[in-house]
Amino acid sequence: MHPLPKATKPLLFLASLLPLARLVWLGFTDGLTANPIEYITHQTGTWALNFLLFTLTVTPLVRLTGYTPLTGLRRMLGLYSFFYAVLHFITYIWLDQFFDFGHILHDIGKRPFITVGFAAFVLLIPLAATSTKAMMKRLGRRWKQLHRLVYPAAIFAVVHYYWLVKKDVTVPLEYAAVLAALLLIRLLPRKATGGKRIT
Ligand code: HEM
Repeated sequence: MHPLPKATKPLLFLASLLPLARLVWLGFTDGLTANPIEYITHQTGTWALNFLLFTLTVTPLVRLTGYTPLTGLRRMLGLYSFFYAVLHFITYIWLDQFFDFGHILHDIGKRPFITVGFAAFVLLIPLAATSTKAMMKRLGRRWKQLHRLVYPAAIFAVVHYYWLVKKDVTVPLEYAAVLAALLLIRLLPRKATGGKRIT
């Protein structure tokens, strides 16, 4: 089987920075709308969720195509999800709450959409922390078990989005449908990979 072209990873790395580059550009050109904090929160949240779903797309794609080298892109996509989630969280604690940790804790406890967003974020931390090859080796079978946390993290993230939208829930429902498809497809028989498991 052909490996991925050498340029794939560097190109994906750079392409994944584009949403951030766009925000920086808009910041310098006065383009962050009339409510920049809200805009940055929404953009970083959306991209954290997009990358989480891209990450979850890799395994079904490998199963459908049998092209296992694609698995090599999964870690980068997952780490970018975490990266945008960190930016999202920093926007919230810094620009939105001005480091008022008393109020932040109150918010996490009292507003269900913040509670579930925070839960999604917390679940992503051990995944990012154990994403290295060395950790994969060290944890062995437990690595796979631990990384199943990506499923509740993604569900929490979609619920977070659904709960925070006040009027038109079409987009969060679209995300929910894509996530449901990505999770359900995992229950199908593993034909394309000859029944082989993908770590
Ligand atoms: C650390 C915990 C988190 C906090 C405190 C938080 C907070 C927020 C806030 C305040 C908003 C804007 C709400 C509004 O405008 O009414 C928001 C939007 C959003 N967040 Fe989070 N969030 C967290 C974690 C996450 C995570 C882990 C993800 C995804 C992986 C995520 C995805 C989103 C999305 C998709 C939106 C909506 C974007 C849009 O409206 O276009 N959030 N979040």
